[in-house]
Amino acid sequence: MNRNKLLQFASRQFESIYGKKPTCAAYAPGRVNIIGEHTDYNGGLVMPCAIDYGTVVVGTFNSDNVFRFRSYNIPYAQEELDLSTPITRYENSWTNYLRGVIKVFLAKGITLRGMDIFVYGDIPHGAGLSSSASLEVSFAAFINGVFDLNFTQSDLALIAQRAEHFAGCNCGIMDQMVSSCAKEGNLLKLDCETLNIEYIPFLADLDIMIINSAVKHDLVEGEYNQRRKECENAAKIMNLKNLSKASLDDLAKNKDKLSAQEFKRARHVITENARCLATVKALKEGDFASLATTLRASHNSLRDDYEVSIEEIDFLVDTICKFGSGKAAARITGGGFGGCVVALVQKGYAEQLHREVIEAYKEKYGIDAEVYFTKAANGAQYLPITKL
Ligand code: GLA
Repeated sequence: MNRNKLLQFASRQFESIYGKKPTCAAYAPGRVNIIGEHTDYNGGLVMPCAIDYGTVVVGTFNSDNVFRFRSYNIPYAQEELDLSTPITRYENSWTNYLRGVIKVFLAKGITLRGMDIFVYGDIPHGAGLSSSASLEVSFAAFINGVFDLNFTQSDLALIAQRAEHFAGCNCGIMDQMVSSCAKEGNLLKLDCETLNIEYIPFLADLDIMIINSAVKHDLVEGEYNQRRKECENAAKIMNLKNLSKASLDDLAKNKDKLSAQEFKRARHVITENARCLATVKALKEGDFASLATTLRASHNSLRDDYEVSIEEIDFLVDTICKFGSGKAAARITGGGFGGCVVALVQKGYAEQLHREVIEAYKEKYGIDAEVYFTKAANGAQYLPITKL
């Protein structure tokens, strides 16, 4: 569904629930990461783009000091937040992301007043396409617009990241930055230490195809935090601020002091940063063969050194790579342990590849993989409804 359709639908739902029209709205997209995986919390480079799927927030003021939240994605789940009481995290509640955003704004000394809110999104949940970042960023952009706060897109990303931490995941900054700052037709090359952005034009003769393995492991959050810890330990042992400050030479010199796992995690981060730069070069030179080799190397490193892939995802990547050199490049994308594969496909081959991958996956695992096509989309926007 495109952004305007999401908005129209959300506005109608809002009216039928609250009996009045919404007056303001915001939209923020999900993301797919093209390369630079598990580097963001190591002060490294990432290169995602926003996708054509996202979350809208619509709302209007009420006369109470209360935020009321409803979502189409979680029917009948109305929750409230009383602005005069301390904000706490609820057990298993989707509104923690919204509570977190409000808490961060209040902590900045900003005065808010009560609103009725409705949320609707079309990002497949749990697929690793950042539905939670899109929700937080959309709501942060909404509050920023409604209360005329003038925060920058990067500020909104940082607010959203703090909200995600409040909700319980100790994530890096990649997802929120791209959801907030993305530019149509471009990848966002982000230095996660300085938050410096460079927009890298995406090649017009490539389609972005996302294949959802439909497999999700329970361990995701625990394993994610564990990887983070291993990286922090490795950096500490090497006397560095973070792993992105290390070279392969430093790593070799410190090999004896690191556990086998810390060594592998660090090697992934160092080589992944280099692959990010290699991808920029390949895109600038229109060199698809190098692009494909680099994406494949990223996948192998995430599989072998970072150990965040799974058999089903490896099968999808192998199937796409076998499709034909020069036609498609692929790797696991996102946090891992299931989720999605991203493929960059030469124009004209996407339909055939789509069919072949779906069939092979069904035959091997009996699972229907879902495929989404997307363009590199724009980041978050505030939209007064009267302008729609
Ligand atoms: C998740 C996190 C991001 C990033 C990726 C891995 O999506 O939210 O911050 O660490 O995993 O690259």
